[in-house]
Amino acid sequence: MKKLYIETYGCQMNFADSEVVAAILKDLYDLTENIQEADLILLNTCSIRDKAEQRIHKRLQELEALKKKHRTLQVGLLGCMAERMQEELLQTEPVLNFIAGPDAYRDLPHLIEESANGDAKFNVLLSEEETYDNIMPVRYDLNGVSAYVSIMRGCNNFCTYCVVPYTRGRERSRSPQTIFMEVEQLLKDGYKEVTLLGQNVNSYLWEQDGQTMNFAQLMAAVAEMSPDLRVRFATSHPKDISDELIETIAKYDNICKYIHLPVQSGSDVMLKRMNRVYTREYYMGRVRKIKELMPDCAISTDIIAGFCGETLEDHEQTLSIMREVGYEYAYMFKYSERGGTMSAKRFKDDIPDEEKTRRLEEIIALQGELSLASNQRDVGKTFRVLIEGTSKRSADQLYGRNSQNKVIIFPKGNHQIGEYVDVTVTRCSPATLFADE
Ligand code: SAH
Ligand code: SF4
Ligand code: F3S
Repeated sequence: MKKLYIETYGCQMNFADSEVVAAILKDLYDLTENIQEADLILLNTCSIRDKAEQRIHKRLQELEALKKKHRTLQVGLLGCMAERMQEELLQTEPVLNFIAGPDAYRDLPHLIEESANGDAKFNVLLSEEETYDNIMPVRYDLNGVSAYVSIMRGCNNFCTYCVVPYTRGRERSRSPQTIFMEVEQLLKDGYKEVTLLGQNVNSYLWEQDGQTMNFAQLMAAVAEMSPDLRVRFATSHPKDISDELIETIAKYDNICKYIHLPVQSGSDVMLKRMNRVYTREYYMGRVRKIKELMPDCAISTDIIAGFCGETLEDHEQTLSIMREVGYEYAYMFKYSERGGTMSAKRFKDDIPDEEKTRRLEEIIALQGELSLASNQRDVGKTFRVLIEGTSKRSADQLYGRNSQNKVIIFPKGNHQIGEYVDVTVTRCSPATLFADE
């Protein structure tokens, strides 16, 4: 059988999609981890920031050399960049045989065949229905413990800075039946953790024959499938994290006490300009509700530094909301203007790059303090950890995560990957907890 090599960039959704792609191609290709022996190389790409795209352009140049060696090698580009740049990519990147947007993966066998003779092909059609719901992904990231399960696709939120609504199309939910089937199979295969995925899982909604299922109900149903299964989810948009959802997370022991709740900015002026649809006060109200029902719940965030027109006062507001929430973790970015988005059309990208860098560094330094303080509070506490693998630093150490999504490293003893174990934290670094016995 021919060999397929997939490289995935960007968010968890792309990682889940690569597993769907591997499933669609499983009768034609075996997966390989050795790029040198590949007959087909696929890059599943991300467009979220300019840097992400630059990385892909560089990678494609490197692949040209490989293609000169292997005459029959085919290279295809998938994902958000395919959707954003469309045919233009085929002209600027001659190494590509074909490109396929996020809703066109069922067409891959056809694109591969049609482009084999040297004529570049593309399919970037977006769909209002495609959820790949009947496809059982091929798990190629084989830790065998934790898996992603995609529950919806697309995004309707149109935050003004963001390309995702354009690259992924309209929001649509996957049928609960096929989600349950996939989780059932994972349980049979020995998996212990699932992460339910979507750009905005809180707006999951399935309607059929007058019956509806929302995200809180879906998650409760998945949690009830096995007490041994941990349930995580990403990402929650603050605008619709309901009381019902927070109560559901609190109610089930096996729903992890970790919420990624991207704030983006602490300034109401910026939030409005970003079209986030919530205010700082509303956001803090949600945080208070979470902490009230689950004092031990970890909260992480995404932050954008130097958005259009951001004043020093706005920036200070971001720092102050970070302190007020006391985030466990943050993903922090400089604003990167994306062609075609509302903010590119309407607002000036007017913060000089050095100033964006300076603000970002301040944000990163503050988060470092907050993460360390949070970890220090955990020293002396005992946590249930799901063991995911052997520590990179030492074969005598294992690592896993607690419910709050923090990585804990501890001595191997007689423990096995995939087991739950209770460990007591004895020391920490800003990024990791350690439990020495
Ligand atoms: N759906 C998720 C986020 C997906 S994108 C949500 O709404 O929370 C992940 C993060 O990338 C965003 O939260 C935002 O912080 C960042 N991001 C998106 N577009 C960006 C841009 N143009 N420049 C810089 N960061 C951006
Ligand atoms: Fe982008 Fe906003 Fe949708 Fe998240 S919610 S994917 S930031 S448009
Ligand atoms: Fe990137 Fe697309 Fe995800 S732009 S962040 S891969 S949805």
